[in-house]
Amino acid sequence: MMPMLLCSGVLLDDSSGTAVRVMKRTARSNRDRDPYGPTGAPSARGSTTAADFERHAASTLPNAVVRARNARRDRRGMGGNIIRFMRISLALLAMVVLAEGAGTFARGEQPPPSANGWQIPENAREEKSPLQPTPEVLKKGKSTYDSKCAKCHGPHGKGDGPDGDKEHPPADLTDASRAVRNPDGIMFYKVWNGRKEPKMPAFKSELTRDEVWAVVEYVKTLRQG
Ligand code: HEC
Repeated sequence: MMPMLLCSGVLLDDSSGTAVRVMKRTARSNRDRDPYGPTGAPSARGSTTAADFERHAASTLPNAVVRARNARRDRRGMGGNIIRFMRISLALLAMVVLAEGAGTFARGEQPPPSANGWQIPENAREEKSPLQPTPEVLKKGKSTYDSKCAKCHGPHGKGDGPDGDKEHPPADLTDASRAVRNPDGIMFYKVWNGRKEPKMPAFKSELTRDEVWAVVEYVKTLRQG
């Protein structure tokens, strides 16, 4: 993040300065190119007056020299413009990448609810458990956990149950950082709808909503730290 920020800051400063220089340079070369201009090149040369030059503009040698010089300047100008254009583009690109990065960062902190194959309704994050973690609720939750979940998530939620897939181990539910990822509503729908890959069965056809909420309350007590 930071290097990108600094980098784009420098580019931006540089390019905005450049933009002004481009404008000045363009104004100057337009003036030079205009043979009728008050400070046109021929009069600066002193060999012809502006009026003479006007008459012989097409054929005089100084004009040829001026034209060659202007052409050189144009070419240089073109090259410079391309480089400046590239610099400005780079700065813009840096801004886009930066914005993208910031977006990813924000997303990383709060993954979209239906991410990673879980089917989670839009407002699940706000949905609170309708149950209180009373001893009775926790007892119900534990008994559901022991019969339906422990075989994968392990007797204490460590993710070390015998049915767990070694390649894609079931989540360690004791990890305290999961509390942020899995507020009540999110955990509820993870259990309710399950997930295809890595496989976690959906429990909506086996358990009632209250049973799932009870198991959610119980799983919350397994978190440590
Ligand atoms: C067949 C094995 C299996 C069973 C049975 C199972 N799970 Fe899972 N569970 C998984 C897998 C695999 C994951 C995904 C792990 C991952 O995120 O990579 C998972 C993920 C979870 C998550 C999400 C963790 C997170 O932070 O994203 C929760 C919560 C969860 N299980 C709770 C339960 C509960 C409660 C039960 C019982 C009602 C249960 N699971 C039954 C295999 C299982």
